Amino acid sequence: MTESEKTANIDFAGGVAIADLPADGIIQGKLGGEDVILVRRGNEFFAVGATCPHYGGPLAKGLVTGDEIRCPLHHACFNLRTGELLRSPAFDSIPCWRVERRGERVLVREKVTPPKWRPGPVGPGATQLPTSIVIVGGGGAGLAAADTLRREGYNGALTIVSADEFAPCDRPNLSKDYLAGTASEDWIPLRPPEYYSDHRINLVLRSRVTSLDLPRRRILLGSGKTYDYDRLLLATGADPIRLPIEGASDSQLFYLRTYADSRALAAAAATARRVVILGGSFIGLEVAASLRERGIDVHVVTLEKQPLERVLGSEVGRFVRGLHEAHGVTFHMEDTVARFDGRTATLKSGTTLEADFLVLGVGVRPSLALAEQAGLRVDRGVVVDEYLETSAPGVFAAGDIARWPDAHSGERIRVEHWVVAERQGQVAARNMLGRRESFAAVPFFWTQQYDVAIKYVGHAAAWDETGVDGSLDARDCAVTYKKAGRTLAVATISRDLYSLEAEAQLEVARSSG
Ligand SMILES: Cc1cc2nc3c(=O)[nH]c(=O)nc-3n(C[C@H](O)[C@H](O)[C@H](O)COP(=O)(O)OP(=O)(O)OC[C@H]3O[C@@H](n4cnc5c(N)ncnc54)[C@H](O)[C@@H]3O)c2cc1C
Ligand code: FES
Repeated sequence: MTESEKTANIDFAGGVAIADLPADGIIQGKLGGEDVILVRRGNEFFAVGATCPHYGGPLAKGLVTGDEIRCPLHHACFNLRTGELLRSPAFDSIPCWRVERRGERVLVREKVTPPKWRPGPVGPGATQLPTSIVIVGGGGAGLAAADTLRREGYNGALTIVSADEFAPCDRPNLSKDYLAGTASEDWIPLRPPEYYSDHRINLVLRSRVTSLDLPRRRILLGSGKTYDYDRLLLATGADPIRLPIEGASDSQLFYLRTYADSRALAAAAATARRVVILGGSFIGLEVAASLRERGIDVHVVTLEKQPLERVLGSEVGRFVRGLHEAHGVTFHMEDTVARFDGRTATLKSGTTLEADFLVLGVGVRPSLALAEQAGLRVDRGVVVDEYLETSAPGVFAAGDIARWPDAHSGERIRVEHWVVAERQGQVAARNMLGRRESFAAVPFFWTQQYDVAIKYVGHAAAWDETGVDGSLDARDCAVTYKKAGRTLAVATISRDLYSLEAEAQLEVARSSG
């Protein structure tokens, strides 16, 4: 039995000798059949649930910073004193227990339930609370905003209008387990149907907002219906770039953004034998991995020299290419698909490839039409201030469309990361209620390809130095991206704690300027 297996069996009801608790450490045990972690911070002790509600991350392997604990898998963050969810990607809090110190022992006592609805004051700037909030977009940012509004005690009218066919879904999974056929349908909705009625969220699906009337504070839908708002959040995300491929019919070209797209692709994959993927983007490569898991012959055609080179550099790009090649994927670098006739793709280089269909993963464009039509300030994204408010007072933007002033780089940036979208939704929600909370989170994203997960914290649009600690080939490393000697970002493989520590360090570097 390993040391961690031994501690996982400790029964906390009987108490633990303080001497057995590492000074600033975490041990896992049980209480009444539930898995619990006991956290010691100096002379303070906290007991919370051991499992992250997002994807079951082991919080005993997480990072404690101040009163918070962060999950090692995708960096969700919880309050150690209450168990409350502080930051996405989880949507739920974790259970929390009262800890009692008796002499030289600590005992974990009864469960403390955080208030489900937090009534009352919502912030110093909340002089005129909104009575009606509309969110345009039913993605990660939109749902996180709605969820946060209700958590913060907002009781007024709340509407999400979404062009999607389905309720907000776990978009990152659409190219991973779901497409590989290893996730069931019930993994995909972020919330069950009754959540929306229970929380009085009016979820309007299959409805596209066609214009904003800023002076009247009103949105107009394609159906002609209108909704009035006191505060508006734009969270319209991004659309895949569509490329016309000569000779190809629409039914032979697949894109992947929505749940409906993923279902259509999975259905086509069920009978496919050979597929060509155009684009070595994260989505293109995750699709490649998922289709290989289905036993499909996959060719990736991309203009780059190495996949993901622009974001992760050539060393990681080489590693990722090797990983896919080891799983049987064939790459056609610095090339593109010129034609698709019948079942034959002809590349610009003249190479021909047999394929049942093509998947295009050549990037996305932020969905800016509404913001542009309304005359909001737009510059390769909807320009927002540190509070995520657009150039129109009372109108906020979050997620893939938002270009915000990033405290660390000192530049305005826009990223396409799930966790950033959700965290911006959370912060925008509080600011719609009058809080003046700066969005200061360090960007984080992950990608999962086969059994390799790459975690990335920070933002390095360009760098002049990289350093690899450990070994890419051994799949155990941290790659640091620096500019003028300053760390901008860190990518890790199999070093989840290091990734959390790097995130915390980047936060400190930000706050100290
Ligand atoms: C397949 C896939 C896998 C991904 N994997 C990862 C990953 O592993 N890690 C990671 O960090 N990121 C990943 N991403 C990126 C991540 O999902 C996005 O950054 C995130 O979804 C952005 O959230 P959002 O709320 O801004 O936009 P979205 O989630 O795209 O939501 C936008 C919403 O706006 C709606 N909308 C748009 N225009 C209108 C309109 N005019 N009227 C009404 N509704 C409208 C859309 O219908 C949609 O509901 C992945 C993306 C995809 C597509
Ligand atoms: S499992 Fe904890 S954040 Fe994903």
